[in-house]
Amino acid sequence: MTAAPTQSRSRQARFRDHVGTAQRTWDDSTVLLNLPQDQKFTQRHAAAGLLVFGETGSGKTSGPGRTLALKCLRAGYGVLVLCAKEEEALDWIKYARDARRSRDVVRIEVGGDFRCDFLLNEMRQYGSSTLSMLGTFKNATAILRQGGGGGAENDQFWQSSSDDFMKNIIDLFKFSHLVAWEICKLDEEDKTTPPTFGLDEWLPPTNVPCILALLNLMQTAPSHQEEYDEKGRFFVECRKVAEKVAEILSDKNNKYGDRISVFSRTSPEEIKELWRLVENYWKREWASALSGASGDNKTHDSIRAYAKSTIALLERDKIANLFRRVKTEDGRYVDTVTPEQLGEGKIIIVDVPILRWAESGKLASCIWKYTAQRFVERRAKTRNDRLEALEQEYASHLEEAQQEVDDIKARGLSVWRPWDGAALKKAEKKLNDLKREHGQKEKEIKDSVRPVVIWADECQNFVTPLDSTYQATARSNRGITVFLTQSSDSLDKEMGGGAAAEKARNVLIANLTTKMFCANTNPPTNHMAAEMIGQTIKTLTSSGSNRARPWSLVGGVSTGKNQQINYDVMPEVFTKLKKGGPPDFQVECILLGNEVFPDGRKWMRITFDQMFQ
Ligand SMILES: Nc1ncnc2c1ncn2[C@@H]1O[C@H](COP(=O)(O)OP(=O)(O)OP(=O)(O)O)[C@@H](O)[C@H]1O
Ligand SMILES: [Mg+2]
Repeated sequence: MTAAPTQSRSRQARFRDHVGTAQRTWDDSTVLLNLPQDQKFTQRHAAAGLLVFGETGSGKTSGPGRTLALKCLRAGYGVLVLCAKEEEALDWIKYARDARRSRDVVRIEVGGDFRCDFLLNEMRQYGSSTLSMLGTFKNATAILRQGGGGGAENDQFWQSSSDDFMKNIIDLFKFSHLVAWEICKLDEEDKTTPPTFGLDEWLPPTNVPCILALLNLMQTAPSHQEEYDEKGRFFVECRKVAEKVAEILSDKNNKYGDRISVFSRTSPEEIKELWRLVENYWKREWASALSGASGDNKTHDSIRAYAKSTIALLERDKIANLFRRVKTEDGRYVDTVTPEQLGEGKIIIVDVPILRWAESGKLASCIWKYTAQRFVERRAKTRNDRLEALEQEYASHLEEAQQEVDDIKARGLSVWRPWDGAALKKAEKKLNDLKREHGQKEKEIKDSVRPVVIWADECQNFVTPLDSTYQATARSNRGITVFLTQSSDSLDKEMGGGAAAEKARNVLIANLTTKMFCANTNPPTNHMAAEMIGQTIKTLTSSGSNRARPWSLVGGVSTGKNQQINYDVMPEVFTKLKKGGPPDFQVECILLGNEVFPDGRKWMRITFDQMFQ
C-alpha cells in the first residue's frame, strides 16, 4: 500500500515544487528552445519579443505556445497570462503543475479574492510623482474608453484637456483621501488620539479603487459658486491634513512610518508649498476658469461627462471590483495580488476570458497588462540604483589600480631596475582581478532581475498602441512579450482599422523581433511573411533560335539574361506546414529571427512536438 502523497514526498521534492520562487539568478544565455543547425533560442532572444502567427487549428497554442510556456515556467520566470478562451486558465494551471510551480499560480476571477488597486499601488511606490500618476491614470482611462484599443495619445479628451486640472485632482486626492484616511485610521487604531479630521462625509469608502475615486473627484469638482462655497470646508480640512503631514514628516520618530509613502521624499516645507499651490489652483485658477470669458461651463461639462461615462464602463459587470482592495480581519484594506509579485515569480492568470466577459474581459486584461508593463519599467530603477552603488564602491579602487600600472609604465622599464617588471606584472594582475570581480558583481546584479513574461494567446484582443512603446525598452528590463494571433488582418481590425491601426500594427510587428509563422491560408499574412523573410534575385539565361530549320543558313541564335525576383520562402509554403494532430503530432513553423544562422539565412523551418513533456 502506498502512503498518502503528502507524507511520502521527500524534502527534495518539496524544494523542487518551489522552483519558481527558489531560483535567484537568470542568465541571458538560458536556452528556451534548441533549434536546428545547433542554434539556440535563448532568454536574450525572448526578451526582444516573440510573435506567433497561424490560422485556427494550425497548432500555435499546442505547438510553439505550449513548449515555450513550459520552458519559461521551468526557467522560473514570472508570468502574466491574459485569457481569451475559457479553457486557457486551466491550460496554464496544468502547465504550472507540469513545471512543478502550482504554488506560484494566482488566478484573478470576477468575484474572486485576488484583487489589486493598481493605481493606488503605483501611487504608493517610493518617490512616485504626480506626473507619473497622471500618465498611468490617463492611459488607464483611455484603455477603458477605447475598449482596450488605445493609450492617452489617441484619446480625444486627453489630447484637448489641460493637465493642470488632473494634476491638482491627484494632489488633492493624495492629501484628502489617501493621507487623511490613513492618519485617521492609525489614530483610531492607536486609541490615544481621537480622529482629527472631518473629511469622511466627502470621501468615498476606503476600498473604492483609486481610479474610481479620482473619477469621482473629477465629476464632483466645484462647478459654480454655490458648490464652491460648499466645498470650502473640504479645502479647509485638506489644509489641516497638509499641516499634519508636514508635522509628522519633521518628526523623525513618527509612528506612521512609511504609511504616508506618497510624500516620503518631500520635506515639510515642500508639503506646505504643495498645498499652497493646490489650494491656489482650486480657489483662484479653477474658479476663474469657470467664470471665464465664454461664461458657460463647457470645460467642466466635458470633464463631468468624461468621468461619468468612464465610471459607467468600470461599473459594468462589476469589473471595478477586480481593483478593489480586500478587507482583512483586522479591518485593514490590502491588495491580495500585486504586479510586484511577478518579479517574485508568481504566475498571475487574469481569468476574465473575452469569450465569456466580452468587452469587460478585455478591459480587465488590458489594465492588468498595462500594470505589469509599468512594473517592469519601474523596476529598472532598482537595478540601476544597485549598479550605481557598485560603481561607487569600485570606482576609486579601480582608478588607484590603474594609476599604479600607469605610473610604472610612465617610468619606463629598464634593465637597471629589473624589479619594475615584476611590480608591473603584480599591478596589472591586481587591476585585472579587480576588473573581473567588478564585472562578476555587475553580472550578478543584472542576472538577479527575474524575467517577466506577458503572455497573450489570441493577442488581437489585447493589443494596444502602448505595447510598442513598452516593447522598445522591454529587452533591457527583461520584460518578455509572447503574443500569438491568427493573421495580420486580425491585429488591424482590433486596433480600430484604418491607416493609424495599420501603422500601429506594423510598429508592433517590427518591435516583436522574433516571428514564428505556423500554417496559414490567409494570403496577406503569407505574403507579409514571405516579404519579411526576403527575396533573392535569380538570373535566368535563355537562348533561342530564329532559323527556320536547324540546318538553315538564314537567321541566327540569340541568348538573353533575365532577372527574376523570387521569395526565399514562397507564400504557398505556409499553407502546407504541419498542423499537429495524428499521426505524428507535429507542428511546423518558419522562424524568422534577427540574427543570421550558420547557413547564411535569417529563417529556419522548425518542428514542435505536441507531446512535449
Ligand atoms: N495535446 C494534443 N495532442 C494532440 N493533438 C492536439 C493536442 N492539442 C491540440 N491538438 C490538435 O492539434 C491541432 C492544433 O490545435 P491548436 O489548438 O494548438 O491550434 P491553434 O493554432 O492554437 O488554434 P486556434 O487559433 O483555434 O486557437 C488541432 O487539430 C487540435 O485538435
Ligand atoms: Mg490557440
